[in-house]
Amino acid sequence: MMLFLKLSLLTLIISAPGLIVSRENMITCYSHVQRLTCETGLIKVKSSVYGRTNSITCNTNRPSSEVTNTNCALRITTIADRCNGLKECELKTELLGNPDPCYGTYKYYNTTYDCINGHFVVICEQGYSTLDCGSDSIEIINANYGRGNSRTCSNGIPSFQTQNTNCYAPNTLSTVAAMCKGKKTCTVEASNTIFNDPCVGTVKYLTVSYICTREIVTCESSTATLNCGAHRINIISANYGRTDSTTCSSGRPASQISNKNCYTPDALNKIAARCEGQSSCEVPATNVVFSDPCYGTYKYLTIVYSCV
Ligand SMILES: *[C@@H]1O[C@H](CO)[C@@H](O)[C@H](O)[C@H]1NC(C)=O
Repeated sequence: MMLFLKLSLLTLIISAPGLIVSRENMITCYSHVQRLTCETGLIKVKSSVYGRTNSITCNTNRPSSEVTNTNCALRITTIADRCNGLKECELKTELLGNPDPCYGTYKYYNTTYDCINGHFVVICEQGYSTLDCGSDSIEIINANYGRGNSRTCSNGIPSFQTQNTNCYAPNTLSTVAAMCKGKKTCTVEASNTIFNDPCVGTVKYLTVSYICTREIVTCESSTATLNCGAHRINIISANYGRTDSTTCSSGRPASQISNKNCYTPDALNKIAARCEGQSSCEVPATNVVFSDPCYGTYKYLTIVYSCV
């Protein structure tokens, strides 16, 4: 259940319409380098498929026996894990270690990704940096301690210490999220004592990508006011309903606050249609706006948004 909630929040964040600057697609034939880049914004992979779904793509100089099977598609997460939150990302595809979904067929990698608005920091090993959301809250998109290219944090370093570009500390994202999520500022350190050395002898760095969000909670029949001053409102997630028994509970009988499973699935779209791109916006927390998702329950409106 917890995992489901986590995943669905992440999905909401990823699908927030205003965060997306552009959508891109990249096809890379097997054993070549896949390079994803965002001219503006940060990479957020939507889907990566390893296999073959048509006979024309990547068929140059290949015998027909290797390109006729077009029913081979393995969804992989390795590219998202490596590339999400970066501005550019190069991967030697056979180093990803994905299992072969159709032996004897010449395959390719098909990645569709968005470029989203966000902050990106790089901290060389033994450095510190403070993520700063001002009065807003930090939401971590991705993080890695290790090395994914030989250029970053390499000035004056002997090349044998920057050659390993396939170095990833698997616990980085969960560690940084546990330290920083929801805080206004958060100091992170690129150090082996925090992340466990993922590649002894290689000079490493920490990359962190994050967005700054605000949450407002409005009890039923009041009105939420979103304000971004000189910036534009970007809705990240929203719900009209009830998911705990304490929020907006004062003076309410137990029967009106006991339902903790009350959601309005299209709340995000409704609020986005009203507020997205404006500098300020008012949203009444009422059944008139959202339709009643749980009759008899006293509800509240939760909106997470950022100013871009
Ligand atoms: C790549 O994936 C996208 C999205 O799933 C799909 O629309 C497109 O047809 C795929 N292209 C190839 C060449 O497989």
